[in-house]
Amino acid sequence: MRADTMQQQQQESQSKLSQFGDTPSEEFRKQLHELADWITDFREQIGGLCVAPNDTPGAIREQLPRRAPEEGEPFEKILSDVDHIIVPGMVHWSHPMFLGYFGWTSTAPGILGEILTAPLNVNAMTWRTCPAATELETVVIDWLRQWVGLSDEFGGVIYDTASVGIMHALAVAREEAAPATRKLGLTNRDLPQLRIYTSDQAHSSAEKAAIALGLGEQNVVRTQTDGQFRIDVNALGQKIAEDRRNGFQPIAVIATVGTTSTASVDPVGDISNLCREAKIWLHIDAAYGGGFAMVPEYGWLRKGWELADSIVINPHKTVFVPLDFSVLYVRDLERLRRVFTLVPEYLRGDTVEAEKNYMDYGIQLGRRFRALKAWVIWRSLGRGGVVARLREQIRLANLLADWIRSDDRFELSAQPSMGVVCFRFTGAAAPPPRAGTAARGSADSIDPTDAINSDIVERINSSGRAYLTQTKLRGETVMRIGLGNVLTTEEHLRNGWEIVQETASKL
Ligand SMILES: Cc1ncc(COP(=O)(O)O)c(C=O)c1O
Repeated sequence: MRADTMQQQQQESQSKLSQFGDTPSEEFRKQLHELADWITDFREQIGGLCVAPNDTPGAIREQLPRRAPEEGEPFEKILSDVDHIIVPGMVHWSHPMFLGYFGWTSTAPGILGEILTAPLNVNAMTWRTCPAATELETVVIDWLRQWVGLSDEFGGVIYDTASVGIMHALAVAREEAAPATRKLGLTNRDLPQLRIYTSDQAHSSAEKAAIALGLGEQNVVRTQTDGQFRIDVNALGQKIAEDRRNGFQPIAVIATVGTTSTASVDPVGDISNLCREAKIWLHIDAAYGGGFAMVPEYGWLRKGWELADSIVINPHKTVFVPLDFSVLYVRDLERLRRVFTLVPEYLRGDTVEAEKNYMDYGIQLGRRFRALKAWVIWRSLGRGGVVARLREQIRLANLLADWIRSDDRFELSAQPSMGVVCFRFTGAAAPPPRAGTAARGSADSIDPTDAINSDIVERINSSGRAYLTQTKLRGETVMRIGLGNVLTTEEHLRNGWEIVQETASKL
């Protein structure tokens, strides 16, 4: 048979094969090389992209077919659409000028960890369904525990997010306050109204958890904070005592180490004493601040942790693990297992060993191999590498705060904390509303300074040059910069600050 006929037959049989099976390996290898180049170029050139698109809603959808494809399409075409439709339609969280939220955790080793996870694609629901995934999960949870200086009385579990972590923690608090809730539920039983306490700065995941657990969002009681946005422990103690007198049953307090708006840190030491005396579950939301406990001079952050019942830390915020990766630690992890273990018959064969079956520690059965990407990034950076990068974020935040202090048209709205700086432009407020017109906060008026601050953020974000966020503190709109991207240098930050100044000057 002639060589070209043979080659043609081979190609035909390969394409037939790929109709049923997978991409032939030579083609796959070529695609992967192409993808490797694409990723490296993307990472190298990300600083030249617009940080955010300025599209109207629906702009991306308009460029995409409404119907799913009938026939398969080549990877090259799909990648080209990523370039031309998806990338321009994105907010680039990994961009060095992305200064929103808490910055972002993209790094080259983190990307390698994600890529490595893809071909393995296991389901780590039980030890037996993937021993390596299960055991590596236990290992990385313990590494992080040691890094942040948490005692070995705490065991952990990896979830996608802190919101899911807090829900599980409060489910255990609920079970311990109202035994047999797991079995009987909350209704048609002689139970008092169960309540959870936190500060007016705490994350909304507290209410979300209360909704999911049938506790009711109104039973999350928010206590006032002091001048530095930390919970007022006296007010908290008084509210708990008053509620008890009125027949409510306090079941948990949530203290925050690194609040969402200002990264303020609640006085956890005092709160933990209060919880211990009142016999109430203490959950520490260290989703943001927890990672900073690795920095030796920030060891004070873990004051009171030793008396907590549960702590959530988001390495996808501050320990460089790509989204999603959150760890819930519970003192005596068996308390969590007791609430969630449930082995249906079809899984019994895969749950016989004494090793951990992580499906027992939450509502999720299927679990992806999240530990691998953490293992790759943490081995690549080491503790020293993580700490050095967190210290740089702290340095940059303080530098920005100095620049803000030296421009008298701006004021700092809170002390900079970790990588977060909140500030307000006060220099060119429009004249106050005329007498007789509505005051601040009413439905039909907006405070002019609030409007200007909001406008600055909107203009910058829609320019695509930088990205920041706004929040409200004591009723005032403020701008907020959060550092976290490893690509953000002092030069980028200086550029960002000049963009803020320049935009403000134009108003
Ligand atoms: C203090 C704090 N807690 C909890 C969360 C919720 O985190 P997640 O998105 O992982 O649910 C956030 C999110 O920013 C946060 O800032």
